[in-house]
Amino acid sequence: MTEETRLYLAAHPFAYPLIRLIARLGPVVRVPGVGVVVNDAAVARRVLMDPRFRKDGPGSPGDLWTPVLGPSVLLNMEGAAHATLRAKLAPLFTPSSVSALVTDVLAQPLKELSARLERGESVDLVHHMRLMAGAVICRVIGLGEISAGRALALFAEGERVASMVSLRTRRLNPRQVAIAREVLDGIGDIASAAYRAEDPSTVMGRMRALGLSEAEARGAAGAFFLTGTETVATFVPRLIALLHDHGAGRGIDLDLAIEEAMRVTTPTPVMLRSVAEPAHVGGAPVRPGDRVLIATHNCARAYGPFDLSRRHPPELRRLWFGAGAHFCLGYPLALAEIRAVASVLLRHDLRIVGRRAARGVLIPTYEHLWIRAA
Ligand code: HEM
Repeated sequence: MTEETRLYLAAHPFAYPLIRLIARLGPVVRVPGVGVVVNDAAVARRVLMDPRFRKDGPGSPGDLWTPVLGPSVLLNMEGAAHATLRAKLAPLFTPSSVSALVTDVLAQPLKELSARLERGESVDLVHHMRLMAGAVICRVIGLGEISAGRALALFAEGERVASMVSLRTRRLNPRQVAIAREVLDGIGDIASAAYRAEDPSTVMGRMRALGLSEAEARGAAGAFFLTGTETVATFVPRLIALLHDHGAGRGIDLDLAIEEAMRVTTPTPVMLRSVAEPAHVGGAPVRPGDRVLIATHNCARAYGPFDLSRRHPPELRRLWFGAGAHFCLGYPLALAEIRAVASVLLRHDLRIVGRRAARGVLIPTYEHLWIRAA
């Protein structure tokens, strides 16, 4: 069993074997209580590009998040309103703006991490990544100076909200909505203050300058927080562990390694759509109201185990960041963060000196990954 499989089993002891079993039943499988499951990258891409499959109907992510985030936060929108808001937000995530933000926020933590490794200390990469990914999102939503305590506290709150969701969750119950609202109100308040300050050097200030309302900016901050913290934080330790376990390190092509590690880890293992009009999914008829569950993990794993020499065919290309209208808005930010941290880590010959899988989490990952420079 690979370490990655162990992580998935620790996070989802029942759902993971089920999802992998479903992968063996064919490219498209109707599973009672779950929905129409897609295990094939080409079919998945067609669904993602087709407007009949939406994120705002019954069984869609909108059902889950609209009660918490409000109706207009990209990930629960469709059509013209979605396209307009995306067009307004996209300039905030260009490679040059995110690289300035990442360099600014991570320079000091990376210097400290590198110094500790140089001194021969063992460091828990999971802890450092929570801190760094938390700090980046704090800055995105409008906090200026960020203490380590604040970044970690924010990360823990996000994890608490994410852990309410499982494969079978269709809606949050009223108690969960109340907890999630409380967490996201805190995020919204930070965002509102930054928005009102009108500082064009902050993402929130720029949202105001771009003509977004305060409510839209609050909602977007909540969406960035939910989508952009744990995804990045959990990925880097898994990337480093994969490279270590495959005897790779210094001198590798980092971008290729990141893509291949994304393929086997798939930090967002599934994507959901609600069927709005009669259609076919890989030949299987679907009706309005049906739920389509794209098992991104199955689609990506169909191409085999981790292999740095593997080239990804067009149908697979970055499927782990989505495709079409909802393709990950934060992709340049995620890549900038991952590259920044991994390139510093890979200057050292790393050894893993201890690891433990995280249990009961939404995104499989390590609870601890202790590394040391050889
Ligand atoms: C390893 C890191 C990440 C992965 C694997 C990832 C993956 C994804 C995926 C698969 C989607 C599309 C979901 C769907 O179509 O159902 C998505 C959407 C999105 N992501 Fe990311 N993401 C990551 C990091 C980030 C970051 C850092 C941010 C920035 C704050 C971010 C912001 C968003 C937003 C706002 C959307 C919704 C876009 C829309 O609906 O138009 N993500 N992400």
